[in-house]
Amino acid sequence: MPLRRHALAALPLVLLSSCADDAAEAPPEPPRFGRASVAELVAAMTLDEKVEQMAGASIATVNDLYLTPANERLDIPGFRMVDGPRGVRAGKATAFPVPAARGATWDPELEREVGRAIGWEANARGATVLLAPTINLLRHPAWGRAQETYGEDTTLLGAMGTAFVQGAQENVLACAKHFAANSIEDTRMEVDVTIDERTLREVYLPHFKRVVQDGRVACVMSAYNKVNGAYASENAHLLRDVLKTEWAFPGFVISDWVFGTHNTVQAAQAGLDIEMPFANHYGPALADAVRAGEVPEAVVDDAVTRILSGQMEGSAKPMAHPGDVESAAHRELARTVAARSMVLLENDGALPLDPASAGKIAVVGSLAAVARLGDEGSSAVTPTTAVTPLDGIAARAGASRTVHVPGPTLTAADEALLASVEAAVVVVGLGPEDEGEAIGMNGGDRDSLRLSAEDEALIADVAAIAPRTVVVLEAGSAIVVRPWVDGVNALVMAWYPGSEGGHAMADVLFGVTEPGGRLPVSFPRDEADLPAFDHTSPAVTYGFLHGYRHLDASGAEPEYPFGFGLSYTTFTLTNLQVSGFSPADRDIIVTVDVTNTGTRAGAEVVQAYVHPAASAVQRAPRDLRGFTRVELAPGETATVTLPIPAPSLAYFEVATGELVIEPGTYVIEVGSSSRDLPLTATVDVGG
Ligand code: BGC
Repeated sequence: MPLRRHALAALPLVLLSSCADDAAEAPPEPPRFGRASVAELVAAMTLDEKVEQMAGASIATVNDLYLTPANERLDIPGFRMVDGPRGVRAGKATAFPVPAARGATWDPELEREVGRAIGWEANARGATVLLAPTINLLRHPAWGRAQETYGEDTTLLGAMGTAFVQGAQENVLACAKHFAANSIEDTRMEVDVTIDERTLREVYLPHFKRVVQDGRVACVMSAYNKVNGAYASENAHLLRDVLKTEWAFPGFVISDWVFGTHNTVQAAQAGLDIEMPFANHYGPALADAVRAGEVPEAVVDDAVTRILSGQMEGSAKPMAHPGDVESAAHRELARTVAARSMVLLENDGALPLDPASAGKIAVVGSLAAVARLGDEGSSAVTPTTAVTPLDGIAARAGASRTVHVPGPTLTAADEALLASVEAAVVVVGLGPEDEGEAIGMNGGDRDSLRLSAEDEALIADVAAIAPRTVVVLEAGSAIVVRPWVDGVNALVMAWYPGSEGGHAMADVLFGVTEPGGRLPVSFPRDEADLPAFDHTSPAVTYGFLHGYRHLDASGAEPEYPFGFGLSYTTFTLTNLQVSGFSPADRDIIVTVDVTNTGTRAGAEVVQAYVHPAASAVQRAPRDLRGFTRVELAPGETATVTLPIPAPSLAYFEVATGELVIEPGTYVIEVGSSSRDLPLTATVDVGG
């Protein structure tokens, strides 16, 4: 039985989610900070006062905020922390589409706006630290928290995570999590991830590096799991060597909650600055370890310097007003993001539906009448209202045109109705009972990538009768659709689309908006085509290849490749140009002309993949290294630029610890998905 079943289930969960309603009313007090510099404060603190700053105040929240201790004597305010990745987990807040959906927008500028909005709402609820973004690489789509991250590719993760952090940190400190190699949920508290140094550096860490160095994230949360034998919270290689020394991270590191810290001395020596949410292994035990000479006081001083610098930075943010939470602008942003995240996977012309016709639309499935917002673990958000698919479609098509057929089995009357409608929209998928953070009996990893037998049967039953069957999937990651997809006319991946999800869905189905999304995760034809996903073993090895890198190497045909998504219009790509490479240039500049060859406006995501023509070491067949999203009117052509950072051509040489760019020819493939790359150019890199 996985640890979560007995460990987290035993937690006083009421404390983990207290005071939800009070938070909506309580105006935050302005953060206070004395006039002294950080160095003066550290010099003035006793050892016990310093150590007190290095642990959370309690497992209980106050107005839904986790606190770290204030120090009245020295006027130190402490931190106020709040989750999370798709909105603020305090009182009522705007529920944005889950990060997997936002990954599907391939739109860092939009993600910056989402970060800014969530940061603003966090600030308005009185928080100084936002426990987001989650930027763990999606190694396998069965991972329960797949929905919390931006997908399977380090370049996409780095770009989206950096944009989120930059936006959020206008209003609050952000905390990138969970560092590192945290991509299995059921065994997260104990699993030892064995990973070779090249795989770690090239696949699992570059997006963290970018969020640290380009995003300048203030805080990093360590993971629960072990990496190569040491818990992430006491992993000196990860925290001290890589994060703080090599990457020169100036911020503070916090542990993951309750079960994330294990050993006082090892954690302190490794560079864990704050144990959250309360002093279990830190606190008096840490002070004793310093007095016993097991932890140098300099280690504590370094941690407290980082913590107080963070508090000073957090205190300098402008104050938002509680009334700004769930503003019309934030809901409108949630709607725009949701529409831009929806991925059109199949369409034989059934979509868009005709908004002007009088023909009835059957909206099928019990999920249609529910607003599925995603996981109910730490990333849960409670909006005041959320629009269901049924309500969104009825609002767009008119209530008299819209009929709900709940299923799961069809009555004779349902069958008669379905034979007479213009189209059936079947809404099926997953929910918190199927996937999510492993808390109590809910969530956790998936055992299968398929829909439930009930959902698959409902789709087949409807498709056998209705003149046009459109399936809308709600889920956090890939679904295997092979058993039923050939029987349907159109398929849309809607993810968990947030407060305004139903409206966004109707906008896409009726062609008011384009389905703007492209897959941030490969959809395999068969789960066996992916590397095995073991969510029961206490030890797992992470290989060099996963996702599209694995599918490309094995030659298995994905159902829908990474980067894929149809549009209501068509595009052509021509005139690929690639600037040469000289060691002094940071970027290789790729330009390409994109033309909208259809009759509707639409957006294309142009993607550039790179591989060396020859290499002394194992390489993936191709890696995404640049992308850009461009909106075009019918007939319009634009020249887009995709900079490819030169260091992204490199491999990590374990012997020297250096990134090495091998001399030789590099192939740059450009197109609309990892499997649709019509343009190729090469660039030569000298010795
Ligand atoms: C999760 C974190 C979250 C924390 C606080 C942990 O169980 O793994 O992502 O920020 O709880 O809620």
